[in-house]
Amino acid sequence: MNIEKSKKLFKEAIKYIPGGVNSPVRAFKSVGGDPLFIKKGSGSKIYDVDGNEFIDYIGSWGPHIFGHNPSFIKAALLNAIENGTSFGAPTELEVKIAKLITELVPSVEMVRMVNSGTEATMSAVRAARGYTGKDKIVKFEGCYHGHADFFLIKAGSGALTLGIPTSPGVTKSNAADTLIADFNNIESVKNLIKANKNEIAAVIIEAIVGNMGVVKADDKFIKELRTLCDEEKIVLIIDEVMTGFRVAKGGTQELLGVNADLSTFGKIIGGGLPVGAFGGRKEIMEMIAPAGPVYQAGTLSGNPLAMSAGLAALNYIKDNPDIYNKLEEKSAYLEAGIKENLKQINKKLTLNRVGSMLTLFFTKEEVKDFNSAVKSDAKIYGKYFHEMLKRGVYLPPAQFEAFFVSTAHSKEDLDKTIKANYEALRKVL
Ligand SMILES: Cc1ncc(COP(=O)(O)O)c(C=O)c1O
Repeated sequence: MNIEKSKKLFKEAIKYIPGGVNSPVRAFKSVGGDPLFIKKGSGSKIYDVDGNEFIDYIGSWGPHIFGHNPSFIKAALLNAIENGTSFGAPTELEVKIAKLITELVPSVEMVRMVNSGTEATMSAVRAARGYTGKDKIVKFEGCYHGHADFFLIKAGSGALTLGIPTSPGVTKSNAADTLIADFNNIESVKNLIKANKNEIAAVIIEAIVGNMGVVKADDKFIKELRTLCDEEKIVLIIDEVMTGFRVAKGGTQELLGVNADLSTFGKIIGGGLPVGAFGGRKEIMEMIAPAGPVYQAGTLSGNPLAMSAGLAALNYIKDNPDIYNKLEEKSAYLEAGIKENLKQINKKLTLNRVGSMLTLFFTKEEVKDFNSAVKSDAKIYGKYFHEMLKRGVYLPPAQFEAFFVSTAHSKEDLDKTIKANYEALRKVL
């Protein structure tokens, strides 16, 4: 594969951009090699600057549920741009998208639009703290909620230990209010609540995790978590930045039959433009300025181009609920193909899938939390990634991520992927 132009661009990029990229995982650090510079995307495919074509399973890390550059989003954007790019004043589009979100996600009664998933989770926590008058939050090890300081915390030696920062630049005092629980382990949450009685404002969770690879919360665990939060007057924040409008029209909440007090969104909600949102119970959302005292603002929040793309995506979902059956069919076909390959070569790996999100973990053991996920052999994944890339399949350049299937993936794409998977697995295992 000729990647000369990408290599040249990367050399130039690292002179001016830290690590050559604007978000770390893009740099291929955990799989080795130089990143490809992408020129365009169409449907299920992306094309790099050297003209190589790939079947894409990243979909810009989640937003492109309809594949790249779908005609109805492009049309909405072209239409919107005729009227100008930003006003910093209310628009009708914002009312339309807010109303539509409350229709699609029943637990959301009011919503505030922001510019990224990070902004959504950060603001949801502030709302929960303002509403409860309490400071501490619980997050689960291995869940990612963006890069706000108080989320970049690793657990100490035991579940009851206060958090310690994972990243330089996060102060001890920032970390001190973040408590870490074990995913799918209700006792770990109960212990934290007991040790921090009446001090916890919120529990935040990816109920279907994408960020340690795909791991689903057990039914019993998520229902018990809901009950615990009710009993202890703790705000339950379900982070749907990745799963919202992806695993079902109403996200993980619809799939798992549980309602959040606050939900956070990103990715699909912006139709490929930089958008996030947080929303939930009216009583909590009315704490947000100017309705209430909790400050939250943004120069470009509710931007008309971003809202047009998001609205086009969400309207499409509302009008075509059958897409989730189609995504399930395609993704189940891919899963079956990979499992058959493993059988053929007589190897055992763990494949977790929820709808159109899946992860092939390079471990034989069941993956149900952070500790079991990190048993995967990320080095072999790196080799597997490159073997797939050589065969025209672009997977996430890191083991602990999800592959995303889109409605644009054809049977031919999936068959080509399954064949590449067979050859790549034979090579690396
Ligand atoms: C579950 C979850 N929450 C929050 C974020 C942060 O979103 P953003 O990258 O838009 O800031 C991500 C990003 O991948 C995510 O997957």
